[in-house]
This record gives sequence, structure tokens and C-alpha cells, in this order.
Amino acid sequence: MILRNRLIIFLALLSKLAFSLVASSLKNDDNSFAPGEIWLDTDGIAINAHGGGILIHGDTYYWYGEIKKGNTYMPECNAEWGGSRVDVTGIGCYSSKDLIHWKNEGNVLPAETIIHGHDLHTSKVLERPKVIFNQKTGKFVMWMHLDSMDYKAARSAVAVSDSPTGPFQYLHSVRPNTGVWPENLPENERHFDNREEPLKRDFYVGQMARDMTLFVEEDGSAYHIYSSEENKTLHISKLSDDYLWPVGEYTRAFVGRSMEAPAIFKRNGKYYLIASGCTGWDPNEARSAVADSLTGPWKELGNPCVGEGKELTFRSQSTFVLKVNGKKEAYIFMADRWNKNDLEDSRYVWLPIEFDSADIPSIKWKDRWNLDELE
Ligand code: DGJ
Repeated sequence: MILRNRLIIFLALLSKLAFSLVASSLKNDDNSFAPGEIWLDTDGIAINAHGGGILIHGDTYYWYGEIKKGNTYMPECNAEWGGSRVDVTGIGCYSSKDLIHWKNEGNVLPAETIIHGHDLHTSKVLERPKVIFNQKTGKFVMWMHLDSMDYKAARSAVAVSDSPTGPFQYLHSVRPNTGVWPENLPENERHFDNREEPLKRDFYVGQMARDMTLFVEEDGSAYHIYSSEENKTLHISKLSDDYLWPVGEYTRAFVGRSMEAPAIFKRNGKYYLIASGCTGWDPNEARSAVADSLTGPWKELGNPCVGEGKELTFRSQSTFVLKVNGKKEAYIFMADRWNKNDLEDSRYVWLPIEFDSADIPSIKWKDRWNLDELE
């Protein structure tokens, strides 16, 4: 009898041990990044936030990105250069405390389905949204690349919200640094929601602005960094105190270097840029650069990727670099692995950035990795 009881206790302990081993391995998997694999949100649905960026507000991360939904098709006007598209659905927002588990906060800037001339009409292009918080106005401000279906409009659009999870109110779009500031134009001449084709006289006046990001300095001043001049040159353009307009001061950087997908971050007083070349949805070799001041001069550092797959940025394209909350040295390179035949199935490639003793950044492929690996 005693022997039988001991056997039962032994078996119970064994099964408890086996269970905790399985649970801990699941937990580990559950807490790691798996670049290029389908990433499910807390409802078990694939995260849909492409060309995205992250806002840290309080102890929460907010991930904003393009919702790529529905049929991918090739409009005739883009056939020559391979510009496939999905119609605009809006901008998605997800929240997380640990960067692994993301709750879908919904479509925070839905497309306009009825008014064809509206900047946010489904037939337009709405890419690379970035959100920053304005301490002075208490508003969350979103900037994004807005374009016509043929990518000829090359504009930036602005929306605001009182809450990080929206809804965002659409304000206006600009070609920045026009010389005629949109805010000085009569109300009916600004590029607002209900513009009807043909486009207004000044629609194409000003600097072209396509792929873009935002950067906020420690003193609260903010900058809009965008691919301009037919994507040949980056502009680093100062925003107004309320972050809603360009103020008209900008510098040209990487002149003639044709960079897209700019991601900017600051580390130990230095500014770093990671960007791509221009090859549509196809991946190319990433570039990196460093500067002592955001407005330059910038020094190119070459391809930050190392190891197998480095020539095509591990089949992805930069979108943002995130400094992890509460860690000393944790920077995450966020990129999109576009699927040009089914844009909805584009994946995310998140990898840690390492720095050598000369402060040169490098990015290595990892099948799986964990935040605990970073300092
Ligand atoms: C490259 C850009 O980086 C993307 O955001 C998108 O505009 C594609 N081109 C479209 O082909």
C-alpha cells in the first residue's frame, strides 16, 4: 500500500515536472520575436500595420501602420514600374506593454469611401504613418505619405487625436515647404477633404514628399524627414510648434542618393539613419549613416546588415527604429517584408541593432530572439 502511494506521488511529481517544462518552452516561444513569420495579435488575427512606426506613451507601445486589406492588383498607370496596390482601408493601431503581444485598437483613420476627391479616398495611396505626441497641445499628431494612385501627387497628410488609440481627425495634406504656406491660403484653397478633380492649381507646388518618418528632439522640436525631388534626395524639414505644418526651414541630405524608407534614431548624442534604395516593393541593400546633428552633415556608413541575406536586407525594407523602454542599449530595427503579389500577406522583420566599439551599427539575421538578450 505504502509502495503504491509512493508510486502515485512519484508519478504526480513527474507529470508536474513534464507539464512545467512544456509550459516554459511554450512561454519562451510565446515571448520571442520570429522575424518574417505571421505575427498574431491578442485576438489570434495577423497584425496588419505595414510601413509602421511606434509611439511610446506612458508604459505602453502603440504601433501604427498601413492596413493592407483585400485584393492586390496592378493599376495600368503603375504597370511599367511594378506598383501593385490594395485600395486604402485606413491606418491600424495596436497597443502592447511587452512588444510581443499586441492588442488591435482598430482602424484609427478610416478611408473615405464616397467622396472621390477626398485625400483619404480608397483609390489613393496612404503609406508609412508615424505618430508623435505634442506636449504643448496635448495632441497625438499623425503624418503619413499621401499619394494619387500613380504616385505623382507626392504629398504628406496630417491627422490629430486626443488619444493614442484615436479616432484621428483628418486635417490636411501638404507638399511641404512650398513658399506659399497652406495655412496662409484661403480656406477653400487648402488641400482638404472634399477637393474634386481636376486638382487645384497649386496641388503640385512645393517639395515632393513620399516615404517619410518623424523625429522629436529632446527640446520638443519635431522634424519631418521625407524622400523628395523624385525620391533622389532626403529633406529634413522642421515642423511648427503644434507639429501640424512645416515651418519652411529644411535641409537637403544624401543628395542624389535615392533613399527611401528612412528610419532615424539617436544614441549617445549621435543621430543614425537607416534607409533603403529605391526598387519599389522589391528589397534592396540597406544603407546607414551617422551625424552629430539631425540636419547634418551626414556620413554614410554603408550597409548595416551582416551575414547571409545582407544584400537584400534579409528580404525586407526599413520602416522604423525603436529604442526599447527601460533598457540601456536596446534598439530594434523594424522592417517590412513586402509581398507585392499579396500585400496583405506582407510580414514584419524585427531585429536587434548591435554597435561595435566605434559605435557602428550592425544587424544580423535571427530566426528567433528575445528581449532578454538585450541590455
Ligand atoms: C517603396 C516604398 O518604400 C513603399 O513605401 C511603397 O511606396 C512602394 N515603394 C510602392 O512600390
